[in-house]
Amino acid sequence: MTAHRLRLLDQSELRAAQDLFLAALHRPPISDADWTAATTYYDNSRTLGAFEGDRLIGTATSWASRLAVPGGATVPHAAISRVGVRADRTRRGVLSALLRSQLTQLREQGSVAATLRATEAVIYGRFGFGVASRGRTLVVDRRRSAMHGHAPAGGEVRLVDTDAFTSVLPTVFEAVGPQRPGWIQRWSGWWYRLGRPEPGETKVAAVHTGPHGDDGFVVYGVRRGGHGEKSVLTVRDLVAGSPQALAGLWRFLLRVDLVDEVVAELRPLDEPVDLMLADRRAGEVRAVHDETWLRLLHVPDALAARTYGEANPVVVEVADALLPANHGHYRIGPDGAEPTDEPAQLALDVTALAAAYLGDVAPSTLAAAGLVQVADPAALPNADRLFATGQVPWSGTYF
Ligand SMILES: CC(C)(COP(=O)(O)OP(=O)(O)OC[C@H]1O[C@@H](n2cnc3c(N)ncnc32)[C@H](O)[C@@H]1OP(=O)(O)O)[C@@H](O)C(=O)NCCC(=O)NCCS
Repeated sequence: MTAHRLRLLDQSELRAAQDLFLAALHRPPISDADWTAATTYYDNSRTLGAFEGDRLIGTATSWASRLAVPGGATVPHAAISRVGVRADRTRRGVLSALLRSQLTQLREQGSVAATLRATEAVIYGRFGFGVASRGRTLVVDRRRSAMHGHAPAGGEVRLVDTDAFTSVLPTVFEAVGPQRPGWIQRWSGWWYRLGRPEPGETKVAAVHTGPHGDDGFVVYGVRRGGHGEKSVLTVRDLVAGSPQALAGLWRFLLRVDLVDEVVAELRPLDEPVDLMLADRRAGEVRAVHDETWLRLLHVPDALAARTYGEANPVVVEVADALLPANHGHYRIGPDGAEPTDEPAQLALDVTALAAAYLGDVAPSTLAAAGLVQVADPAALPNADRLFATGQVPWSGTYF
């Protein structure tokens, strides 16, 4: 352990925090122009710094948001990001101290859950985060990509100008609303960042209008290949409020000229785009990656916020070393969940609970992996039915 102290940063220290984070990701410091823009991403009342003397050696921030849970309710949620420790001060407990403080404060301030996107899978499990949603990479060979005649049709797609990134697109996003467990509310700085071009490509946005108005949009960029190289259209964001909007936006993407491949990363595992193609092999799933790393900060409130399937109730013991107030027995049934003194039939860590919470992994699958301890085997099929959601969880918001 290194000697360090933690405190919230003030406005004048946020740029150093951003540069520390960028350096931790092996990126150069932020330019003046980008910093002016980036200040909109930081909420200066929520950025923590770890100091050794006067020197900033680690940082983490979060944005206030909401998370959709099974059944459609949304709960207060913190989106944690910009986590970094100076390369000469790693593995001395700086991140551990930052997260312990951050998670405790967020719970005290009323956040029911926190989520993040992880650079490495080995970092966050020890702090109670579990993978709660995943996404797949779909690559479509544009020249073979005609849709079959049963794919939903109708609606219009129009290109919108760059002002739309912070006006029209957020409005459509709010109008479409949570489509699945795992959806999170976006914050203003998120939209600002979406509009910033990626190196080597411009960003284009197109909005879909269905029978009841604007009901989806896509943001994409195209990287032209040189001789013998592919030109690739990369989907940066795609929100669709209906199957018709999804089909309409993809039909549009697949007709963009001078493109060989369309690549969409971290899309829902069951998004039916490949099923809309006449040639199924024109669409190839190349990878599945973890998306949401979920930390249940207030387990009683989180369990009470979601709905459950039809099955006999089960009593579950939840362990939480970092936030011990969560530790306890919970009776979970079709009518809800509440703390109980009854003996536990199943026991699991808050990390495993996160994996089951949005419906991504069944309790019996977690048990088979050694992540749920089973005192009463009859409880396991009941837990599977209770936690099943019938919807694949997905967030769709990368931060
Ligand atoms: C990831 C990072 C923030 C960890 O900070 P840190 O101060 O070294 O973390 P800690 O010292 O508190 O580590 C706590 C534990 O996690 C382990 N750990 C932390 N990061 C790890 C990593 N990247 N790989 C393997 N183990 C890791 C430590 O070994 C330690 O284990 P121990 O308790 O058994 O000794 C830091 O390495 C970093 O800045 N990395 C680059 C940027 C990055 O990936 N940020 C995360 C963005 S999501």
